[in-house]
Amino acid sequence: MSAHDSAHDFAIDLRSDTVTRPTPAMRRAIAEAEVGDDVFGDDPTVLALERRCAELSGKAAALYVPSGTMGNQLAVHVLTQPGDAVLLESESHIFLYEQAGIAANSGCLAHVVPGQRGALDPTAVEGAVRPAGDDHAAKLALVCLENTHNRAGGAIVPLAALRAVADAARARGARVHLDGARLWNAAVAAGVSIAEWAACADTVMMCFSKGLGAPVGSILVGAEVEIRQARRVRKRWGGGMRQAGILAAACLHALDHHVERLADDHARAKRLAAGLRMDGVEVGEPDTNIVIARLAAPLDPAKVLAELEKRGVRMVGFGPGRIRAICHLDVDDAGVERAAGAFAEAVRACR
Ligand SMILES: Cc1ncc(COP(=O)(O)O)c(C=O)c1O
Repeated sequence: MSAHDSAHDFAIDLRSDTVTRPTPAMRRAIAEAEVGDDVFGDDPTVLALERRCAELSGKAAALYVPSGTMGNQLAVHVLTQPGDAVLLESESHIFLYEQAGIAANSGCLAHVVPGQRGALDPTAVEGAVRPAGDDHAAKLALVCLENTHNRAGGAIVPLAALRAVADAARARGARVHLDGARLWNAAVAAGVSIAEWAACADTVMMCFSKGLGAPVGSILVGAEVEIRQARRVRKRWGGGMRQAGILAAACLHALDHHVERLADDHARAKRLAAGLRMDGVEVGEPDTNIVIARLAAPLDPAKVLAELEKRGVRMVGFGPGRIRAICHLDVDDAGVERAAGAFAEAVRACR
């Protein structure tokens, strides 16, 4: 049996919504994609994807990028100058999981402030602004927001909260970037369109390779001038792709077929959360597709994960005492039931 086969033996892989494999229909869309050389700007499928995403977000332009990380990092790069400060929520993906990219790629200082379920308080903007004309201080050029918020357990940052921070940033002359890796989930769960969320920000990054089930890619949307600059920098960073229509076709297919169904993942996450709640395990009510279980000592997450693995169920450690599970396209109702049953057994085995 190959390593590939044995990985697929894990009937229930809840480590992330990035583990989904393209459906047969998505594979057909990939096979039939019309392609060209996107570095020359003539891949029709990439152009169609970019046009569609610009339209649905109410922005002038869009750029298809290989990953969410590249989309976020390009946004920071085009909205700042070296020596600028960037305000970030202290558990945000850009701060925690992008290898200090804003410093390494853009020469920026991270000013981090804790949020409430992923939401920054507008007063945080005030606190990050230094007096004008003070030559000691870094200038606050950018505020980065995240919705849904991964570390906060797929929490939806409410539209009013997002707007309040964006307004505070703009009033202080700072730009706004939204890490919307899972903005699709927020849109479906809250009934708020992508365009309404996107109106809070100058640039928005959204992933196709998470809940939407595409194999590769994210989109960065924004104004013409910034997306043009991001296109140049994407090339400098080695992210210019050629017949990328092969990938973009999967993303277009996902937009047509996999957005509304995110509601199924959200309903399953609620059922999974209920199934994981037990003595010594606290589980909040998920807003979207992410479930966080907090284990009381002496329960050890590493041991529980190992016991789960023996039972063909995968979840991941998510900081001290925490385990994360994400519902997605490749997990059905029966999978959720089985995962909850295996979790109960694993906890019993670890007591
Ligand atoms: C909130 C958030 N932003 C950005 C990313 C980065 O996406 P990628 O893995 O495609 O670089 C992730 C990935 O998990 C994420 O959860």
